[in-house]
Amino acid sequence: MTFDNKDFDLLRKDLEHASHAPGYIYSSPEVLKREIEEYFMRDWLYVGRVEEIPNPGDYLAMRIVDEPILLARAADGTIGAFYNMCLHRGVEIAQGSGNTRTFKCPYHGWAYDLKGNLRGAAHMEDAAGFTPRNCKLREVRFDTWKGNMFVSFAKEGPGLLEQIGALDQDFAFLQMENCRLGNKVVMELGCNWKLVHENVMDFYHVPVLHAKTLGTYFEWKDEDVKLNANGGMSIWYENGTQTPDGKTLFARMPWLKDRDPTFACTGFMPPNFSLFGRIDNARVVVAWPISESRSLVIFYQLFPEEVFAMPDFTERLEVYREYSKVVIGEDQSMIESMQKAMGSRNFVPGRMCTQEKPLHHFLNGYARRIFPIHEERA
Ligand code: FES
Repeated sequence: MTFDNKDFDLLRKDLEHASHAPGYIYSSPEVLKREIEEYFMRDWLYVGRVEEIPNPGDYLAMRIVDEPILLARAADGTIGAFYNMCLHRGVEIAQGSGNTRTFKCPYHGWAYDLKGNLRGAAHMEDAAGFTPRNCKLREVRFDTWKGNMFVSFAKEGPGLLEQIGALDQDFAFLQMENCRLGNKVVMELGCNWKLVHENVMDFYHVPVLHAKTLGTYFEWKDEDVKLNANGGMSIWYENGTQTPDGKTLFARMPWLKDRDPTFACTGFMPPNFSLFGRIDNARVVVAWPISESRSLVIFYQLFPEEVFAMPDFTERLEVYREYSKVVIGEDQSMIESMQKAMGSRNFVPGRMCTQEKPLHHFLNGYARRIFPIHEERA
């Protein structure tokens, strides 16, 4: 398949004259490979909350963009991120999550401590020049922002704070570091990873598709969309919280006491971090590509520490969880239908609505990264 930079000419026009992006950016395996190299192997990526591994010995293993990684909290409380590949033949030394003092490779038994140091390698005495104590799992760059964990596969480059700077400036007041994970919903969707993020920044569809759910309490103005570097953005608007009547079942976050009850905000940092603020909670949405037409989507919903002590906390939390599932279900059928169109040889990108300012900005940032105009790529 050949790609032509001219395919993006209509997207590159100003919003009033622009059209959407070519379907192949959502349906081509070659494009996904390019995105993985240009985006996912270079940028900081969201991988979870620090409270998912709160104690020494806690670990979390995951496969992201075909790279197995392992996050582990050592005895001194620090968190390290490693390639989850045994130094012998590459088998994953840990699966899922849990607590341990040692990682033992299930294949030939090489053992590692929580900082990734090789502590034992059976029958390797005769391997000339091999010194286990000098061996360590390869590290992945790791950093945190407001209780959120990020990794970068790039050996060097900008630090996390440099990449997340605009969101740090705009949304530090949400105090996500003083929140705790309440709901975590993991699901696979039959769509390209970009359609997940595009959907959550697409305010044009909210009053229509979500007329009976979150569209009931929704109000936004074009001037409240702030466009950040690299296709990122910060948006402020009005919305209820994620309950059927839009009213909180808990209380306002203590640091949002002065805000209107319909306060709402959304932030996006490419490639995989969308955040949301409401009067009583903060939320993160992450989308990982499984293939060009399939994504693993994870929703993290955070609440201030004190509400976890409420006697009926679990029941109330369940209301938020179920409500989110209803809204996600409404979106799922739309974005999976869109995905089918993106793979059709007869799809022609349509004109953009001026209410699609966030998408226009994201897709233009994307095109600059993945289909740079100065370079003819085939
Ligand atoms: Fe791990 Fe052999 S692959 S010990």
